[in-house]
Parts: sequence; structure tokens; C-alpha cells
Amino acid sequence: MTTSRRSDEPTASAATPTRARAPAKKPAASPYHLRISRLTVDKLGVKLYDKASAVVAELIANSYDADAKKVTVRVPLNVQLASKAGGTLCDLGYVIEVEDDGHGMTPEEAIDFYLRVGADRRTRVGQDGGRSRKLKRPVMGRKGIGKLAPFGICRRIEVWSAGGRKTTAGYAVTHFFMDFDKIVRDDDDAVPLEVGSDDRGWSKTSGTRIRLTSFLAKRVPDKETFLRQLAVRFTFARPDFSIYVADLANAKAELLKVDPLDIPLLPDTRIDLVSRPVFDDDGTMLPVSGWLGMAREAYKNEEMMGVRIYARGKIVGMTRDFNQPAGFTGEFAMRSYLVGHVEAEWLDLDEGDDLVRTDRQDILWDSDYGQLMRRWGAELIKEIARRSREPRRIRVRDEFMRKSRIEERARQRFGDKQVALVAVDLAKKFGGFAAEDELNDDIYVEDLSQIILSVAPHQALMEAFHEFANQITKGEASLDQMLDIFKKAQIAELASYAQIAAQRVRVINDLQEIIDRSMDESQFQALIAKAPWLIEPSWTVITKNQSLKSFKHAFERYWKSEHGTEVTLAIGHEDKRPDFTLVSIDGLLHIVEIKKAGHLFDDTDFNRLLNYVDAFTRFFDENSRTVSEFYRGWQIDLIADGENVRQMSNKLAFEQVKSTGKLKRTPWNDFLTRAKKVHEQFLDIHELGAERRGGHRA
Ligand SMILES: Nc1ncnc2c1ncn2[C@@H]1O[C@H](COP(=O)(O)OP(=O)(O)OP(=O)(O)O)[C@@H](O)[C@H]1O
Ligand SMILES: [Mg+2]
Repeated sequence: MTTSRRSDEPTASAATPTRARAPAKKPAASPYHLRISRLTVDKLGVKLYDKASAVVAELIANSYDADAKKVTVRVPLNVQLASKAGGTLCDLGYVIEVEDDGHGMTPEEAIDFYLRVGADRRTRVGQDGGRSRKLKRPVMGRKGIGKLAPFGICRRIEVWSAGGRKTTAGYAVTHFFMDFDKIVRDDDDAVPLEVGSDDRGWSKTSGTRIRLTSFLAKRVPDKETFLRQLAVRFTFARPDFSIYVADLANAKAELLKVDPLDIPLLPDTRIDLVSRPVFDDDGTMLPVSGWLGMAREAYKNEEMMGVRIYARGKIVGMTRDFNQPAGFTGEFAMRSYLVGHVEAEWLDLDEGDDLVRTDRQDILWDSDYGQLMRRWGAELIKEIARRSREPRRIRVRDEFMRKSRIEERARQRFGDKQVALVAVDLAKKFGGFAAEDELNDDIYVEDLSQIILSVAPHQALMEAFHEFANQITKGEASLDQMLDIFKKAQIAELASYAQIAAQRVRVINDLQEIIDRSMDESQFQALIAKAPWLIEPSWTVITKNQSLKSFKHAFERYWKSEHGTEVTLAIGHEDKRPDFTLVSIDGLLHIVEIKKAGHLFDDTDFNRLLNYVDAFTRFFDENSRTVSEFYRGWQIDLIADGENVRQMSNKLAFEQVKSTGKLKRTPWNDFLTRAKKVHEQFLDIHELGAERRGGHRA
């Protein structure tokens, strides 16, 4: 290529000396002028070019349009281009250079074409501006602003180009500098440009070199990222055009070729777009090529996201949803996994409207063609969502299995293999229906795991019974098989109970922590009504029986007729503030009276209680049919932290009631500790271990 023709070979430090030479030229003599106001620069969205790759891509596009076969990008990779310590910008002497072997420009061409802002090259008089000069490539350029893109990241652009007709001396060289601060002013008077030392010289080969210096505090990403960022900007459809990157920050780095990205897809989700043209409202077919599909994995980087839309080999937009309004089916999955490469030449027709936004960030979705593409995309999204449902479910499931480590946890929690297997099975089923977007939330994953782990023993039990029933109906149940099933059922049942016991222990632990004097009695009554097993660990849901109900109503009526006042007995949790809570176990009726923590049971309390003792005694004597199920009689469980019964008669009576076993007082802590111990014992006896008990949480 052309680098050997010049005496001042570009180096990373060449920028400063070139600038130092500048005053030697008389600015007034410059043939080069640029006319552009600050307002125009803003409107053109130059600021949006804040990525080195995006800037370089514009220069590459220009090289392509100039029939270049090879473009070399020299850039310091993985560096901060300028420092901004303490708010002052400090240039670090870096250089970015884009050099091509295209047809270049003569000084006249530079003046006529390059130094015009916003001129559409495709409408140039006297030439086919829509096609490149020799290779007749459909050109990427259109807006006449690409050359200004570098001002998004730097303040000085050096243009060196050799072009025109080949003469005996070679190609005519144009060489000048564009300084942002000089050019971009509030008015739009033409500003003379600094002329370079090679200007009006000759070069043996044609081509252009654009050199950027005086950077803003932007970062050039690492090699992989930079290459990816460049790769997605072009389609590489042409075999006669290649882009190379040389890392200026690393002298030993080899020349890197920019190649298309490879994006792995979920099986069977790829749609080849050649067979899916867009149809205009009047039936005209608008050809499309490329593909759409669902990415196999969550994106590891921005460049692999979404669908990229190209026209003439250059990116014109990126979309994740073809601009669909929110709320379409499979939205989350589609937005996160939809990928594609859409080539639609009709988005950039010479004679058609310019459908790309001025700032080149996207296509104009509201234009006629934009609308067509939107509608077309919506259909395809639907189709891909449908095709990918199953593979997506599998992916979500696997993701859940991995994140929750449920296999390992099930094995740990359930000594029994059968139950652990059921848990894993359940996890696979539930996992597939997990909310994909929530899987990154640890709490969500943990909650779901807990549900699965607590349902597993019950499910295992059900399955064992089911199998048992099956064998019997088929008449195939041998005694051995039966024993086997019973064994399984027992294991499952045990695991199921262990689960319950473990939960209860956890609840008691929590209770012990929150019980304080601020809680009042009705809160405790409600607690007992909801968790009667606190009174009797062997309580199960089945125990809450009809006879308790009959007793409750009969006694409430009885009390009213005897005393003329209301009394409320609670069985389950009731709205009314109960006076007592009833729990019945194995023929013994527990009547639970609760005092708040720290309360001393005094004479008033006792006088009231004594009335009830009397009433319960008489009721039991007089209503033998109603109370027949409580063959072990009744007892009052008084939960109160201390006693302060002063009156002598009360003191004696209190002792006496206690000695009959009709009244048992337990302080809060003893009460809870006892309940806990029983459950823990259950867990220990069945070697269900501390972890499962959940009693030793960190
Ligand atoms: N590397 C190059 N080699 C030869 N000519 C070039 C080169 N770069 C720019 N030019 C000339 O300068 C003109 C202006 O370039 P610029 O990028 O600003 O506009 P464009 O490419 O026409 O349109 P767009 O703004 O859409 O890129 C080009 O049309 C072309 O004639
Ligand atoms: Mg251009």
C-alpha cells in the first residue's frame, strides 16, 4: 500500500510536530475551507459517536465507497485516550488511523466532495453517485456527514489522500487538517483549514489516510470487544473487501482481521429470511436476506444482542423487538434472546427516502417501510416465540436446576433416595415454568426451591400410595412388592413428618425471639388457635374435630344461661377475641388461657378463672353426651410467667385446683421450650439431623 511514499511516516507521536509546523503556513492561503456551525454539528448527532468503533466504522464505510479492497485500522487497544484528572482534559498523544487503498481524492475532489457537509453523494450531477467509481459497489454513504463522526471522540482530524488520474508523477495528494475548535463556531462562516506538508505532492499509489489526534476522555475497549464492535457494523458479504486492525498499544501485536460474529442459536429456532420477503400493501415484494433466531445463551456482550439491520452492507439499526409495543407474548425471552441479521437493501434506495435517522442510531420506524418492517417483524417474533417454547423451557429448567443446586440439596435433606428423586423430578417440572427473568434473583430461586423441597415428601408419599393402589387393582400385588411399597410409603411419611417438625421448630425459634411484653393476650390466643401443636405436639389437622365444635357451642350457651355474659372459645383462628382456645388430643380437652409475657397471675385473674373452673366442672357433670369424646376429661393450660395471688382464700384454692391436675401453669419460655424439644426429639430419633431441622440457622 501507499505508506512508503511519504517522508513523515505516521507514528504514535507524530501529531505534535505536525501541529508545531502549522504556523509556517499562512492560513489565508489555504485552498481548503469548511463551513459548519455548532448547531449543525449538534443536529447531526456527532456527539452520539462516542465509541471509537462507531467512528472508525464511518471511516471504513468511506473507504468501501472509494473502492478500497483493504482497510487498515491502527488503534491503541484497551486504553483511555485522554485523561480527565481534576476536570481538565489532558491529551496523552495517542493516534487512531484509518488507511485505505481506494481511489483516494485529489485536492479538487477533497474541496468539492469531502469538505461539503450534508451533501448527498448519490445525487451528484454528472456521475452515478449511488455506485462506486470502478467496482460499482452500491455505496454506503448518503448523508455527507460521516467524515465528521471523529469529532465525537477527538478534536483534530488529519486528512491525507492521493487520487485522481494516475500521472507519470503518480497521484495528486491532498493534505489538510480539521480542528474542531477552529471549525465549529457559533456562526457558519467558512473557515480556512491548516494545510499539510504533503499537500499538492505526488504519491505512487492511490488511497486515503485519516488520522485522529487530540482525544476526548474516551476509552478504546480491549481487542475482542473492539473487533466485535467493528464486526457487527458490516455484513462482509463481499469477498473483495477486508478490514484489519493493528494494535498501536502493543508493538508485538499481529494484524487482526475483522470477521463476522458467530452467534450460537437454540436448535430449530433459525428462520432463513430469504424465504420471508416483506410485502408492501399493494403486494410488491421487498426481498430480505439473513436470519432470525433465539440465542442459545444469555448474551455475554452487547454486540451479540438483538437483531441488526443492514442495508448495503452497513448497519442501519439494531432492534430487540422490531419496535413492538410492550406486552407481546414471550416478551421477556424475546427481548433477551432474539438475535438476527437482516439485510434489506430497500431501506436505502438511491431514489427512495432516507430511512435512517440523522444520527444514524436507528431506522425510522414510523416511515412507510419502517412500518412494513415492524409488522413483518412482529409475525416473525411470534413464530420464533412458538418454535422456541420447548427449548426455552428446557433452558429455564436447566438454569433453575443449576442455580438452585436442588439435586445436591435434596440429597442432603432427605436421607431417603426415593424422596430425593421425587424432589429432583418436581424441580424439573416446576423449573421449566419458572419466570425466566426472575432466575437471576436469588430470593426467587430460594423460595421456589423451598416450595419444592417441602412438597417433595408429600408427593413421594402420594406416589407410593398410588403405586400401591395400582398393584392392587391389577391384582398383581405380591406380598413382597407390597412390603416394598409400604417401606417406601413409610419413608415418605417420615420425611413428610420431619418436614412438619422442622417447620415447627423453626417457628418456635422465631417465636422465642419475638415474644416480649408488647404483645397482648389476644395475639397469643390467635397464635395458639393457628398452631395448636404448641400445646400438644401430637396435634394434627385431623384432630380438629366435630366434637370440639359441639362442645364450644354448648358451653358458650351454657355459660350465658348461667352467668348472663358472653364467653368465646376458639377452635381455629376466629375474628372474635377468644377467652380461651380449645385443643383436643387423645380424649383430653385442653382449655388454653394465655397471659401476656411477663404478666403475674393475680387475684383478679384467679377470681375470674375460678368461675370458669366451676363452670367447666359442672358442664362436664351435666352434659355427659356432649363431652363423651373427652374421655380423659379436661384441663386448663394457663400460660403465664408468674403468680401474684395474695388473698389467703385464693391462694389455697389455687393450690388445690393445681393439685387436681385441672390447672397447669407454664411460663412462656418453658412452654415453648417443651414444644420445641418434642419436635426436636422426633427429628433426632429419626436421625433427621440438624440441617433439616433448620434449628441452627446461621
Ligand atoms: N476514504 C475516502 N476515499 C475517497 N473519498 C472519500 C473518502 N472518505 C470520504 N470521501 C469523499 O468525501 C465525501 C464525504 O464523506 P462523508 O462520509 O462525509 O459523506 P458520505 O460518505 O457521502 O455520506 P455519509 O454521511 O452517509 O457517510 C464522500 O462522499 C467521498 O466523496
Ligand atoms: Mg461516509
